[in-house]
Amino acid sequence: MRPGPRALINAQDKAIMRRTLEGVGAPVPAWRVVESPAHARDFAETVGYPFILKTSRGGYDGKGVWRVESTSHLDAVMSQPLPPGAVWLAEAAVPFTQELSAQVARSPSGQTAAYPVVRTVQTEGICSEVVAPAPGLDPDRAVEAQRIALDIAGALDVTGMLAVEMFDTGQEIFVNELAMRPHNSGHWTIEGAITSQFENHLRAVLDLPLGSPNAREPAAVMVNILGGDVGDLYSAYRHVFARDPGLKVHLYGKEVRPGRKVGHVTAVGSDPQSLLLRARHAADYFSGAINE
Ligand SMILES: Nc1ncnc2c1ncn2[C@@H]1O[C@H](COP(=O)(O)OP(=O)(O)OP(=O)(O)O)[C@@H](O)[C@H]1O
Ligand SMILES: [Mg+2]
Repeated sequence: MRPGPRALINAQDKAIMRRTLEGVGAPVPAWRVVESPAHARDFAETVGYPFILKTSRGGYDGKGVWRVESTSHLDAVMSQPLPPGAVWLAEAAVPFTQELSAQVARSPSGQTAAYPVVRTVQTEGICSEVVAPAPGLDPDRAVEAQRIALDIAGALDVTGMLAVEMFDTGQEIFVNELAMRPHNSGHWTIEGAITSQFENHLRAVLDLPLGSPNAREPAAVMVNILGGDVGDLYSAYRHVFARDPGLKVHLYGKEVRPGRKVGHVTAVGSDPQSLLLRARHAADYFSGAINE
């Protein structure tokens, strides 16, 4: 199985991942496994409120992550049952100015390819938008983020795509978490890069030479389509396609549920701000938030 279980466990269990990352010297926020509310209060005394509590396993799209504001909030969060095999993980709340994702592909023979570092925007815990490359990111810091991702891929013997989610405070970068698969932060690569994350994932697994991860245009944006009140997404195609022939739309064929990721819209070009306005409009039309 590639990547092997010793690598994959770090994408499944955030406490194991934190320990591994510290071991390879990657920058991580202050963290501790906490067994009880009293133990978590001790941790809060060192980092202050608010701080972050997470279940080490079973979370996604912000489920299993809480920004703890007070001791009573802490007690309420920790009174909930943990998913099977999970522990409570407490972390300092990082005052980031943007969230980043550094994606790399790595083959069993050790060839690697690093994609441009992107900005990810989460709304209520769910990734809503991605901008490639990350606007305003200092070129040296972008290279540092790519270097961190390549180091982690090598240290963990990753095969295929690795996404390293990071926090950028403007002064420093911290690693948030790892995903060992094609990732939402790389959907823009289908149209925006020479080789998509999906193709490079397969090339890596097959140990074929990797394709260029370079961007085709100066900028690309991806906006997720979240399920809203409209059950039939396909009826929006005619309007969206006619209004803006430059957009690319991907619907996943999933059952529509409120807040669920059911597709995405990509726009490539030169000005990220105008690309975002166009892609957001289409995504909002699909989800039913607007009707013209
Ligand atoms: N230590 C932290 N400091 C500040 N914000 C944080 C911290 N940890 C998590 N967050 C916020 O919560 C979001 C979700 O956290 P995390 O990535 O750990 O959870 P997840 O639900 O597994 O995410 P995903 O949707 O990527 O699977 C982050 O993208 C970030 O916005
Ligand atoms: Mg995450």
